[in-house]
Amino acid sequence: MNTIRYHGNSHRIHHGADLKHLHGKPVACIIGAGSIGQLTADFLRRSGRFRTCFIDTRINKKKKVACSSSIYQQSSVYRCSRGVYPANYVKYADLIIITVKAFSVSKIIRDIEQHLSFDTPVILMVNGFGAQEELKKLTRENRLYLATTSNGATHNGFSVVRKGVGSTYIGPLKHAKQTKVIKYFIKSLPNGSYTDDIYIELLRKLAVNAVINPFTALNNCLNGEILKQPQIIQEILKEITPILNRLGLTDSQQMLFQRVETVASNTKSNYSSMRQDYYYGRLSEIDYILGILIKKARIYGIKTPYIDSIYQKLKQM
Ligand code: PAF
Repeated sequence: MNTIRYHGNSHRIHHGADLKHLHGKPVACIIGAGSIGQLTADFLRRSGRFRTCFIDTRINKKKKVACSSSIYQQSSVYRCSRGVYPANYVKYADLIIITVKAFSVSKIIRDIEQHLSFDTPVILMVNGFGAQEELKKLTRENRLYLATTSNGATHNGFSVVRKGVGSTYIGPLKHAKQTKVIKYFIKSLPNGSYTDDIYIELLRKLAVNAVINPFTALNNCLNGEILKQPQIIQEILKEITPILNRLGLTDSQQMLFQRVETVASNTKSNYSSMRQDYYYGRLSEIDYILGILIKKARIYGIKTPYIDSIYQKLKQM
């Protein structure tokens, strides 16, 4: 077992300048210690290209928290012991990656904005659609990026287990260029790539989440279970494909069907994030997934009885 400790020394963290380019490596600050945040931190650290720091938004800011990590073959265990107010991390990071739930994005943006350096790139990697608008409120568009991943992972407190290999796309929100630190980030991820049209990848991921997440939450099951119900996948896609087409995606229902099947099969032993949220009684991202699609459908005059009823059932659960 290979054990890595980092941020063990609170002095070092408080004097944030020491964080920058420690041992010649850029510092990636990950905000959000859910499955994808922990998994991303793990990839970056394992790649050897980054020093990684964590902000766990679930923990009271006044309580000092730092993380250490033990890397096993399949999983990484994180423990939070002590740390600092996020401002110090944010100010001296070379790259910020936001991996919180969609509904927390506005708050995080408000929290970090005042501490951000002029040129620090910020990547938003969240499920669903809508939260991206919040990122636009940060004024300097030349450092803002969006990312989407189909990796499956499950965390239990501060341990994360990878449950299915997927791809990760990153691209500019508007005018950002592909800088060196962004190239490092992409190289650190399995199947990471850059795209100038990240919205297309976000819409594809929205289709996947609109099928897998509500189904697994309603049925309290693993992602792989949906493969036994291809007619349900088709019913949902029949309604959402025209909406996604109006939003700019040219993929057909059949292409999206194959995509859903591939992700469900790659992550078959994973519980989706929405299943986990319902199971543990947490706020879910339903409004950023089915909710946003239904809203757009109303604007375009598209009828969606099937997903309306799924949405209603989930809202009542
Ligand atoms: O939300 C999730 O859980 C993930 O986006 C995915 C890809 C469906 C895997 O579980």
